[in-house]
Amino acid sequence: MPSWASAAAILGALIPAATAPAAPAPFYANTFEKAPTAAAMTAVGRALFFDRSLSASGKMACASCHDPARAFGPPNDLAVQRGGADERHYGMRAVPSLMYTQNIAPFTEHFFDDEGDDSIDQGPAGGRMWDGRASSAHDQARLPMFSVFEMANASADAVVEKVRHAAYAARFRETFGGKIFDDHDLALKAVLMALETFQQSPADFYPYSSRYDAWLRRETSLSASELRGLAAFNDPAKGNCARCHPSAMREGAFPQFTDFGYAAVGAPRNLAIPANANRRYYDLGLCGPLRADLAGIKKYCGMFRTPTLRNVATRGVFMHNGVFHHLRDVLRFYAERDVRPQLWYPRAPNGSRRKFDDLPLQYQGNVDVAGPFGRSPGDAPALSEGDIEDIIAFLNTLTDGYVEPRR
Ligand code: HEC
Ligand code: HEC
Repeated sequence: MPSWASAAAILGALIPAATAPAAPAPFYANTFEKAPTAAAMTAVGRALFFDRSLSASGKMACASCHDPARAFGPPNDLAVQRGGADERHYGMRAVPSLMYTQNIAPFTEHFFDDEGDDSIDQGPAGGRMWDGRASSAHDQARLPMFSVFEMANASADAVVEKVRHAAYAARFRETFGGKIFDDHDLALKAVLMALETFQQSPADFYPYSSRYDAWLRRETSLSASELRGLAAFNDPAKGNCARCHPSAMREGAFPQFTDFGYAAVGAPRNLAIPANANRRYYDLGLCGPLRADLAGIKKYCGMFRTPTLRNVATRGVFMHNGVFHHLRDVLRFYAERDVRPQLWYPRAPNGSRRKFDDLPLQYQGNVDVAGPFGRSPGDAPALSEGDIEDIIAFLNTLTDGYVEPRR
């Protein structure tokens, strides 16, 4: 969401509707009978987010997949969740956390860093979803509501009818105007805007309340192991993790642990995803098939948006395809992918190892080979077992909800 829109949504100072009849009003224009306040939209959005009746099955809310107890990430350790009208359709990707997504800019193919060296095209960045195909949280909310794999509503009318009969219907009318349910398009817009505004709520979605944040504020100390982990995380000769998951304050802003860019790290194929039973199906991220507009642009195949590592220790499933279930496995994968590939990729029918088995051969050159990757088989890994333990200890300091014990 552009920052003007975010500011408008947060302040509740909505832009007046355009009077020109031809062009449709911009999404954030106030086309409601009553100008909704951010606080009222947040309250309605929260109710919508937890409402199971907003699905064809009547059993699935946004919160069923985005569990607030686990940083609005998956509620369990399954690679993909089940949804749909009969709750039997499997999704194609792991559920991402919804926290710290408030600053995601709309997708661009050419990102220039105006705070660093602004002459370097850093390639694709931004956008929502693992492949950036949704440009804002409200565009995004449409997708699960109508996806056959998720909430599977047949139409906007179906959603609006459910809201009209929900326990919070009166609050919805108070927020957007008494006649809001008479116009289904406008009511759907109200639903999407309320969900988006709720996801902008700092206390729920970006509290910066981890031990690491407390340490950055000089309110607490980190253990020796956690400090070694942070150093190894940052060290270009070790984890080099901060290259894509920045860990430092920047111009007074707390780090997001993602640069919102895209990379192919070559995660192994996950046969626990039913779609992968089809040997010809590949989830190639930016170049499709879930995202359609960049299909055929070979240099993008295999790239996914770098996720934030805030609250990562609350997850039971990692990477876009949920192939890993323990942070230790993720760390070992980073350390060993190129030096001990036999531990990470299966044998092909002819007995050879098939490295990067979730990418067709012609795209394997897209895989990132700079540190911690890029050594040769048999070389020492970039991270020792001790480094891995320390980095895990450090990643555990990124979980929100830390309260300094009373002295
Ligand atoms: C059946 C499980 C499921 C349900 C229900 C669900 N989601 Fe999601 N959500 C996902 C998955 C899986 C992804 C990643 C999809 C992808 O990358 O293709 C996702 C992605 C997102 C994202 C993008 C996050 C990012 O990092 O860019 C947002 C925002 C989101 N969901 C919000 C919602 C809202 C709001 C609802 C309710 C209207 C909802 N979700 C319902 C599974 C679900
Ligand atoms: C080249 C950029 C890059 C570097 C360097 C990098 N990562 Fe990542 N990281 C990514 C991307 C992209 C993904 C998602 C990959 C996918 O889903 O296929 C990811 C995923 C992860 C995940 C899974 C998170 C989740 O929500 O599923 C963890 C944990 C992680 N990285 C930690 C690290 C650590 C620790 C290091 C250093 C040892 C590191 N990363 C180095 C880009 C990078």
